[in-house]
Amino acid sequence: MKILVTGSNGLLGQSITSIFTRESDFDIILTSAEEKSFLSYGHHYEMLDITKKDDVKRITDYYSPDVVINCAAYTIVDKCETERELSWKINVDGVKNLIIAARRNKSKIIHYSSDYVFDGKNGPYTEESVPNPISFYGREKLASENALITSDINFAIIRTVVLYGIGVGIKQNFVLWFIDKLRNNEPVNIVTDQISNVTNIDDLAFGTLKIAEKDLRGIYNIAGEDILSRYEFALKICDVFKLNKDLVRPVITATLNQPAPRPLKSGLTTFKMQSELGFKPMDSLEGLRLLKTQLGY
Ligand SMILES: NC(=O)c1ccc[n+]([C@@H]2O[C@H](COP(=O)([O-])OP(=O)(O)OC[C@H]3O[C@@H](n4cnc5c(N)ncnc54)[C@H](OP(=O)(O)O)[C@@H]3O)[C@@H](O)[C@H]2O)c1
Repeated sequence: MKILVTGSNGLLGQSITSIFTRESDFDIILTSAEEKSFLSYGHHYEMLDITKKDDVKRITDYYSPDVVINCAAYTIVDKCETERELSWKINVDGVKNLIIAARRNKSKIIHYSSDYVFDGKNGPYTEESVPNPISFYGREKLASENALITSDINFAIIRTVVLYGIGVGIKQNFVLWFIDKLRNNEPVNIVTDQISNVTNIDDLAFGTLKIAEKDLRGIYNIAGEDILSRYEFALKICDVFKLNKDLVRPVITATLNQPAPRPLKSGLTTFKMQSELGFKPMDSLEGLRLLKTQLGY
């Protein structure tokens, strides 16, 4: 099977590349917005900005992949509120470019969405729950889902939540940011009222592998096993990484004045992934312990 990964230099793109390389016999083509790949597995690499329709056409026509795994996205949620045009271009129009190319090449698209498509009033959410985004990023993610759902191509949409893991030259995720702050003895404000699962990136990549191997279609939640507040998660990070809990100050979301509203009582159920993909995701402690090993601490 020939797989083309977009956004391969991001957190998820790197984990996908590593797990697909290790676990199976795929022909892998990496693409990302940068001139060079951050990884050195020896796969073909092409610079590809998914907002450039002609480049998407040229590269996907050339490789004619069986599956396009779209890890490219504009992921800074607060900046999506102010950079609306740019973020829409990447998160929605970029996906539409991939759909047009996939239709021509008869490729499947595996795309990622978020619990931010929900309002956070009554999570955790199943694959059938009715979306009602409260942020611009959430609206973009929902629009990208709808572009796939209303297309006539083979697709899978994976909804996920609070990703953490390691990678080369990646943006900081919550866990890496938190460890960094506490190791430098800096106090941090952590919210007690945002409740959801947290997801080790390797589980998300492994679940994607299963979806590709089994050619599953439609919407799948892939997320960590337990649901907890961000504050409870922070205390678990302190336990695993032996950090000073006195530096962690509990606050509520409203005090942070963030540009993008957050879904509070959120999270994604994992029954469908457990039964159809056939694996149980890590809980937050297991995921953090794996991360600790990967970081070499
Ligand atoms: N992170 C989370 O907690 C979370 C939660 C739920 C869902 N998700 C979804 O999961 C997916 C993967 O997220 P992630 O955490 O891996 O994000 P990430 O680390 O920000 O990776 C996204 C990658 O896409 C690249 N990119 C941006 N614009 C591009 C373009 N026009 N063409 C090609 N590549 C482009 C980025 O490059 P630059 O770095 O150079 O911009 C980056 O390498 C996304 O769809 C995200 O919405 C993430």
